[in-house]
Amino acid sequence: MNPALRRLVAYPFERLAQLKAPLTPPAALRHIALSIGEPKHPPPAFLVQTLERSMGELGSYPATRGLEETRTAAARWLERRFGLPAAAVDAQRMVLPVNGTREALFAFVQAVVDPTAKAPLVLMPNPCYQIYEGAAFLAGAEPYYLNTTPQTGYLPHLHSVPEEAWRRCQVLFLCSPGNPVGAVLSPAYLRHALELAARYDFLIAADECYAELYDDEADPPTSLLKVAHDMGNDSFRHCMVFHSLSKRSSVPGLRSGFVAGCPETMAQFLLYRTYHGCAMPLPTQRASIVAWNDDAHVTVNRAMYREKFDRVVPILADVLEVERPQGGFYLWQRIPGDDTAFTAGLFAQQNVTVVPGSYLARDTAQGNPGSGRIRISLVASVEDCVEAARRIREFTLGLRA
Ligand SMILES: Cc1ncc(COP(=O)(O)O)c(C=O)c1O
Repeated sequence: MNPALRRLVAYPFERLAQLKAPLTPPAALRHIALSIGEPKHPPPAFLVQTLERSMGELGSYPATRGLEETRTAAARWLERRFGLPAAAVDAQRMVLPVNGTREALFAFVQAVVDPTAKAPLVLMPNPCYQIYEGAAFLAGAEPYYLNTTPQTGYLPHLHSVPEEAWRRCQVLFLCSPGNPVGAVLSPAYLRHALELAARYDFLIAADECYAELYDDEADPPTSLLKVAHDMGNDSFRHCMVFHSLSKRSSVPGLRSGFVAGCPETMAQFLLYRTYHGCAMPLPTQRASIVAWNDDAHVTVNRAMYREKFDRVVPILADVLEVERPQGGFYLWQRIPGDDTAFTAGLFAQQNVTVVPGSYLARDTAQGNPGSGRIRISLVASVEDCVEAARRIREFTLGLRA
């Protein structure tokens, strides 16, 4: 067996299931899950109808590169959403459909890391989406964790990385808006990251799958591609961005996203994917095209998340120090005491499931940046989120008694 498999850490939800297994919540209270980041809003009807209408195409093998219309819909959306000039994104050479960002984030690292280089590193925020770490292990690289804490403004602190680590860095993962921290990376931050990438010749994998979920309608998060273009890097060297319909259009089960970036890197990634065998089914592509071409349903989706924050934050703010995130649908909530004990107690007493922060982060010399926090996913209905917030409030008050 590949010895790297032994290094993979159990997924947070497996650990959560073990934590909850011996506990019995009160039968009188309905269970509310605010644990998995699985959007629950209804998907747009036109997307579902297009999918149904396209089922006749299941008789054909799809090409790994995807349909031209799929790549074009993604390219035009990138230009529209991030204010890139028309035709800045070459749909032929810069875009590939992927079956959700998860598989692409993993596969990308396998394709680009050179395991024969001296001690290769993959840099990533801590906490982060665990796939980044597993991808690094299986590609023969070491993860290098950048703790995101209140002191760093919840951003990976690039200035703290020693020169020696930058020399070994092959991929830098960034996530904006971040999961679970909700912080958005500014153009100045991304410019600095791109300067470092040019100086030390590494790739930036920018996970932008929450880019459409943001609080301030007048200030949407930017993209690595836009910042690169503004710097004059119109061939997008060192850049790869990852986008998804899972959060944008509330279709996590569709498994649809795309990657976009440097054409030379993309050509190699396409070669890898041809062998990997992960082409997107044609009905999925048809549904994805209509979804990327429409922005109105996303505005509605965003308003629903905003309403949940509007309703939930004041309830929790009564007993906890709440920081409303700039983007995404998580509260990265500081709680009193140990986060696993809090999570277990909340489930046992109130039948609400959240994720202990320490399960989403790694221990480092500076501690575990998830300790003393829980991640609350505001994915359930407004009513359920409000009810869960009331129960979290009651449980927290009980801890003081
Ligand atoms: C930060 C981050 N990246 C990627 C993904 C994967 O999303 P998908 O594969 O559905 O596009 C998730 C899912 O929760 C996520 O939180």
